[in-house]
Amino acid sequence: MTDASMTATHPGAEVLNRDGVEDTGYGREFAPFYDRIFRHDESAEITAEGLARIHPDIAQGTLELGVGTGRIALPLARRIGPVDAVDSSVEMLSVLEENRNGEPVQAMHGNFVHELPGRRYGMIFAVCQTMSMVRSRAEQRRAMHRVAHALAPGGIFVVETGNPVQVHALMGGENPSVATVPLEAQGGWLTTYSQVTPDESGHETWRCRQVWIERDGSLHTGVEQSLLTPLDVMDGLALEAGLIPELLFSTWLGDPYGGQSALYIRSYRRPTETAPLEGEAQ
Ligand SMILES: C[S@@+](CC[C@H](N)C(=O)[O-])C[C@H]1O[C@@H](n2cnc3c(N)ncnc32)[C@H](O)[C@@H]1O
Repeated sequence: MTDASMTATHPGAEVLNRDGVEDTGYGREFAPFYDRIFRHDESAEITAEGLARIHPDIAQGTLELGVGTGRIALPLARRIGPVDAVDSSVEMLSVLEENRNGEPVQAMHGNFVHELPGRRYGMIFAVCQTMSMVRSRAEQRRAMHRVAHALAPGGIFVVETGNPVQVHALMGGENPSVATVPLEAQGGWLTTYSQVTPDESGHETWRCRQVWIERDGSLHTGVEQSLLTPLDVMDGLALEAGLIPELLFSTWLGDPYGGQSALYIRSYRRPTETAPLEGEAQ
C-alpha cells in the first residue's frame, strides 16, 4: 500500500459539508466503528473524572473541541452538568445523538479553527489527538488564539495529544511501516499502516490507515492524518496566544510526563489580571 492509495481515499484536504463547514472526512470513515476502538468504558470515565477535577469553575461553562461520538463529553456532563461541544463531522455527531441518554451536551456542527460559540468558558478541552488533527501550524495557531479569546479570565484550555516520539517508536525505525496489535478489551485487532512525511519546515505529518478486524473476520478501514506536535511546540503556540502552561501529566491518573510517554495532558491558563488579548476590546 502506498501513500498515494491513502490520499486517493482520504485526501486530508478539506471537503465542505452541506452547510459549508470544512471537514477532513475523518468522521465519514471512522464513525461506523469509532466506538469499537475508543470505547465508552472505564478509561473514558477516568478522563471525564480528571477533567471534572481540574475544572477551575464549573459555573463558567465547558466546551469540548472535536467531541466525536461523545465518549468524554457524555460522562463529563453526567458529572458537572451542561457541556457545549463542536465537531466538523456530521457523521460523528449523529453517533453522539444515538449515544446520548439525556445528558446535557449541546453539540454544534462547526470547525473550531474557523469559529467557536460566541461566549466565554471556564474550561475548554481537546482530547484524543484532536489538536494534532488540525492540518497546519498556522491553523493550530488560529485555533489556539480562538480558544484564548473564548476562555474566561482564569479559565483553562486542556490538551491531550500524542507524543511524536511514540509514533516513531511504533514505526520501529521503518517508514512506512505496518503494525498489528490485538486490542483485548475490544476483542479485535488493529492494523496500522503508518507513513511520516516532513515538510520543508521539518513539521512531520503522520498519515495512517487503520484496519479494524473483528473476531468474525469482518473489517472496517479509514485513514487519519495528524500533524505531529511535540509538547514544546504546543506550549509555544499557547504562550503566543497569551496562555500560561500549567499542569502536565502522561495519564488521567496523574502519572508524570516523561520524554518517552505515549501522550501528554497539558493545561494552559488564561491569566486573570492581564490586559485584554490581542484584538479584544478594553
Ligand atoms: C479522534 S476524534 C476524538 C473524539 C472525542 N473527543 C473522543 O475523545 O473520543 C477527533 C474528532 O475531532 C473532530 N475534528 C477534527 N478536527 C476538527 C476541527 N478543526 N473542527 C471540529 N472538529 C474537528 C473530528 O471530526 C473527530 O470527531
